[in-house]
Amino acid sequence: MDARITVLPGDGVGPEVTAEAVACLATIAERFGHRFQFQEALIGGAAVDATGDPLPEATLALCRTSDAILLGAVGGPAWDRHPRDQRPESGLLRLRKGLGLYANLRPVSVHPSLEDASPLKPEIVRGTDLMFVRELSGGLYFGEPRSYSDEAAVNTLPYTRVEIERVARVAFDLATARRKNLASVDKANVLETSRLWRKVVDDLAPAYPEVKVQHHYVDSFAMALITRPRDFDVVLTENLFGDILSDEAAVLAGSLGLLPSASLGGSVGLFEPIHGSAPDIAGQDRANPIGTILSAAMLLRHALKLSAEALALDSAVNRVLKGGHGTGDLKGASHLHGTRSLGARIREAIRPPRKKVPRLVDSAYSWCGSPEGHSSNH
Ligand code: IPM
Ligand code: MN
Repeated sequence: MDARITVLPGDGVGPEVTAEAVACLATIAERFGHRFQFQEALIGGAAVDATGDPLPEATLALCRTSDAILLGAVGGPAWDRHPRDQRPESGLLRLRKGLGLYANLRPVSVHPSLEDASPLKPEIVRGTDLMFVRELSGGLYFGEPRSYSDEAAVNTLPYTRVEIERVARVAFDLATARRKNLASVDKANVLETSRLWRKVVDDLAPAYPEVKVQHHYVDSFAMALITRPRDFDVVLTENLFGDILSDEAAVLAGSLGLLPSASLGGSVGLFEPIHGSAPDIAGQDRANPIGTILSAAMLLRHALKLSAEALALDSAVNRVLKGGHGTGDLKGASHLHGTRSLGARIREAIRPPRKKVPRLVDSAYSWCGSPEGHSSNH
């Protein structure tokens, strides 16, 4: 197939990790006989420095006409004192909102060879396999009114039934394809928005009779997540809770650097690691590229519908981890690598296509993002 992929390296370690993921996609294209065309564009602090705008019009236009977007990370101390609309983060938020990406999938699983990498006991983390569905276009991140003065500041947490229902459907669909267990996380004992969240999820539940739904308050869920993670399957929550809980869940996996994400729901999907720009290690060949490489696998699966190719990339990462290879953030890795050499290992581990693809293994991920049933326009 032909596909046009927009690459937004961003700031800090972003350019280093996206370079490895792009190289993996190029290897996949070569081994499976596809033509992927990569186009780079500016976002975040890099875009502020070059154009004064963290999301230049040209970047958004390019994204809108591509089949998928791969992003590194944005932000850094250089831009911390800028006004909000000129901060790197507002570029990313405008991109998500502008593309209508309301469902952010963040899978968190514990690789068998990394059970000791977590500061939690191996018997707690072993076998963890979670799928966070974070609402991405609403809530406190975008709510109006909002204002700031040195004496008083306001943020607002709004949600409509429509906004909750569309992201909840994504979570129900994923749960149906997985272990049929949905945890919906809110703060309904305090927040009106959460009361509505709970009501909408309950109203939807009869349409998914196979799925067992449990509601949790976010404070107690934060504790349950790291004391009994195996009890959960799909976790549905609003924007800010999802941001916080997914970083917390990274402790289970052993490193934030391992975790990928897919943002879906609009006409083109955005794929990015959940980690930030890590300015302290930027440019030193130390960042873990796996979160971005697994994001590229999600891009293959969700945007391009290439499930055998996605599986080939996931398996390459698994083989490399199993061999004890890793970057410095992975406690217990017996073969230490830099960003580039770990990326190269993973590319070497990508096996050529097999004749038959085991559909079942992949079915848990087969959810597709947009209301039209396609998250790309090929
Ligand atoms: C994430 C990041 C972003 C967020 C920031 C960079 C705006 O933390 O993707 O988790 O808060 O959504
Ligand atoms: Mn975050």
